[in-house]
Amino acid sequence: MESFRGDLIEWFKKEQRTLPWRENQDPYRVWISEIMLQQTKVETVIPYFEQFIRKFPTLEDLAAADEQEVLKAWEGLGYYSRARNLQTAVREVVSEYHSEVPKTVEEIGSLKGVGPYTQGAILSIAYDLPVPAVDGNVMRVLSRVLLVDEDIAKQSTRKLFELLVSSLISSKDPSSFNQGLMELGAIVCTPKSPSCLLCPVQEHCRAFHKGVEQELPVKSSK
Ligand code: ADE
Repeated sequence: MESFRGDLIEWFKKEQRTLPWRENQDPYRVWISEIMLQQTKVETVIPYFEQFIRKFPTLEDLAAADEQEVLKAWEGLGYYSRARNLQTAVREVVSEYHSEVPKTVEEIGSLKGVGPYTQGAILSIAYDLPVPAVDGNVMRVLSRVLLVDEDIAKQSTRKLFELLVSSLISSKDPSSFNQGLMELGAIVCTPKSPSCLLCPVQEHCRAFHKGVEQELPVKSSK
């Protein structure tokens, strides 16, 4: 699986989309982008992200802002509890962590609205730490590559994928590895008609070899 990792990372570095939150590794920017991307598509998020960062350039600016102002900047993105939780968590980082986004799973995971996916995304993308960041895209990609037919609607399956990623990820560019999984799921290993012929990890994909990529992932409609 070492060459799977290497092939994925190499592809990501070459083929990744230019996105505003990829301009640098500022943990605050990574955090905002990951919260916005949780229930909202990339194309929709881009202008909101840019406007939000212009309005609240730093953690301190967001902590000091009026909640109403923050909600107004979020208008149109929906799921407003994301914005409220984000501001609560940012205020905690300012008051409890000297305005530095914490670098451990325990500390970052204790912040409001920061679940296992967001923790892993921030720690790997901003701090280059080898922590899994498993979302729906990542489960789809890995269910195909590794031929996992467990129901991805189950919490236990997400845990299984976190264990699998923990064993696949290495301290050599964990950021590109996690983002490569997300990016592959977004642009190649799509839910319907995945572009297997263009896939950088086709040779590693057990579902492709069996011709069952379209049957995976398994998802109950509960
Ligand atoms: N979806 C979730 N996180 C993402 C990211 N960092 N880039 C692109 N799509 C994403």
